[in-house]
Amino acid sequence: MLLQINDLTKRYVKGKTALNKFNYEFTDGIYGLLGPNGAGKSTLMNIITQNLAPTSGEVLADGKNAAESGREYRKLLGFMPQQQALYPDFTLTRFLYYMAALKGISKKEAAPQIEDLIERVNLSEHSRSKLGGFSGGMRQRALLAQALLGDPKIVILDEPTAGLDPKERIRLRNLIAETAFDKIVIIATHVVPDIEFIAKEVLLLKDGEIVGSGAPTELCGGVSGKVFEVIIEQDRLPELQKNALIANITHEGERLCVRVICDDAPEAEHRAVSPTLEDLYLYHFGEY
Ligand SMILES: Nc1ncnc2c1ncn2[C@@H]1O[C@H](COP(=O)(O)OP(=O)(O)OP(=O)(O)O)[C@@H](O)[C@H]1O
Ligand SMILES: [Mg+2]
Repeated sequence: MLLQINDLTKRYVKGKTALNKFNYEFTDGIYGLLGPNGAGKSTLMNIITQNLAPTSGEVLADGKNAAESGREYRKLLGFMPQQQALYPDFTLTRFLYYMAALKGISKKEAAPQIEDLIERVNLSEHSRSKLGGFSGGMRQRALLAQALLGDPKIVILDEPTAGLDPKERIRLRNLIAETAFDKIVIIATHVVPDIEFIAKEVLLLKDGEIVGSGAPTELCGGVSGKVFEVIIEQDRLPELQKNALIANITHEGERLCVRVICDDAPEAEHRAVSPTLEDLYLYHFGEY
């Protein structure tokens, strides 16, 4: 599958651009769309899934214009939106049959898929429970199952781990990683570990524009030589904060070990360390 995004622009109101001439080519594999609140992640995802019309630009799936293919294109899609209304009185099974019907999948076709998906997202014991009684993690897994109905080739997940505890977060991340063999999976998040180890490529989005993209290790190279660990007395911290972005602080006896990101090596005693994607995120989105 090839998903091409050409010059996609969205202006909700005059003067403010939520997405600005976004261009990218997606092939099978997992992509992480990283950016702070308001970066334009949901805007991009809502346009790709045709829940929102772009101001200009186009989306092509295997070379075919998505706007022209309409239904054919939407059949390729699985979507887990950021704001989801669940039906509290539906059981999980009923919810999935309902979603399958909306996607135009017959009951007969849906039955084995639903059984398989419920098992994959580890909800077999709850298939006849009402969604209203589901915990946050169970809800997100139910919504992932819904997104995977019909074996979509383009799966769009908008902050799938929002509100989950670390255990559920890891569980959902593994589930996503397992399902991604022959698909384009795009995950929007502001939580770096959600995508750090599973994404083939990461796109950093800021104010509607890509400020960096590539394989995670490649991207980290962008801040190599800019990440340091500094050992300082506690009272020197404010001074350091003025000149560098603080990634992490740990206590070492009376002193502090501070991980900083800055263009020039700090004056205090320091050692260079290899950058992580989180460092890169801070470098682009953090503030001095
Ligand atoms: N319906 C709307 N009407 C007007 N402006 C909007 C609308 N939806 C989004 N915006 C604006 O577009 C920009 C991008 O918003 P978007 O929701 O795409 O960001 P996001 O990266 O998904 O953020 P978050 O991490 O908070 O979900 C923001 O400035 C937002 O205020
Ligand atoms: Mg969003």
